[in-house]
Amino acid sequence: MADALIEVKNLSFRYAQHDSMTLDHLSLSVEKGSWTTIVGRNGSGKSTLIKLLTGLLENKSQDAISLFGRVLSEDTVDKIRLHIGLVLQNPDNQFVGPTVADDVAFGLENLDLSRGHMEQRVKEALENVGMLDFYDWEPARLSGGQKQRVALAGVLALHSDLIILDEATSMIDPIGRQSLLALVKQLQNRFGMTILSVTHDIEETFLADQILVMDHGGVALQGRPSQILIEDQALSGFGIELPLSRTVQRDLLALSIALPSGYLSEEELIDQLWQLYSKK
Ligand SMILES: Nc1ncnc2c1ncn2[C@@H]1O[C@H](COP(=O)(O)OP(=O)(O)OP(=O)(O)O)[C@@H](O)[C@H]1O
Ligand SMILES: [Mg+2]
Repeated sequence: MADALIEVKNLSFRYAQHDSMTLDHLSLSVEKGSWTTIVGRNGSGKSTLIKLLTGLLENKSQDAISLFGRVLSEDTVDKIRLHIGLVLQNPDNQFVGPTVADDVAFGLENLDLSRGHMEQRVKEALENVGMLDFYDWEPARLSGGQKQRVALAGVLALHSDLIILDEATSMIDPIGRQSLLALVKQLQNRFGMTILSVTHDIEETFLADQILVMDHGGVALQGRPSQILIEDQALSGFGIELPLSRTVQRDLLALSIALPSGYLSEEELIDQLWQLYSKK
């Protein structure tokens, strides 16, 4: 792909204590400025892939991973990592500073910025995630959703080009989750950031430009949400819960009530159900 920001070719990985490969000749490509979501059953290798991409695990498949047009290797990993913002599942494990502002500033300390410049970046980043009012707060007093916003601010302050989220919304309530995802979408549109997210929430994948379904350490399915989210049998076979609209479509069809056959978001589903109801 011409504009690939992440290019993985034939990546294999085995943990020392395992007999079988955790990643097995995995290939994928992520276009600059796009949002790619990875889904797959527990243990399919999603987090292992993320750890290899971010240098948290050492990649022994030479030349298999390129990021920002550079091959990830022992020599390049430190530089490349500076451009990646990683947000993980448990916000509590990601806080290091006594205040929200200190926390966002933490990652900037290696950048050799002046005190004033650093403060400005922290304020801008907190403003962009709607958390400037919490500048002086202790992170422990924030809700889970607010903590994840602050974690995103840390990524923004670094001016990262790539945000990687590994189940970053799984510990927050549905409303907090929606608003965090809307924020990520906004950051993608506004700053042209590239997003790679891992989730078990199939409805979340609708926001992506590309869905990758992982199974047994490889990419089993890939395509646009409108293509993948209607693959009921294949998704079930890979241990993935179907979108709500697919089960409602199927159940209504059994009663000879046909809804439009493509993927419907939750809002579109509600809209269709209202239309049916008002025709009664
Ligand atoms: N540090 C480790 N040492 C040894 N084996 C590991 C380690 N981390 C993960 N594994 C194994 O590698 C496989 C893939 O794990 P991984 O965490 O990548 O899966 P995942 O797709 O992220 O799953 P989940 O959806 O549960 O987060 C599993 O069999 C797991 O037990
Ligand atoms: Mg995982």
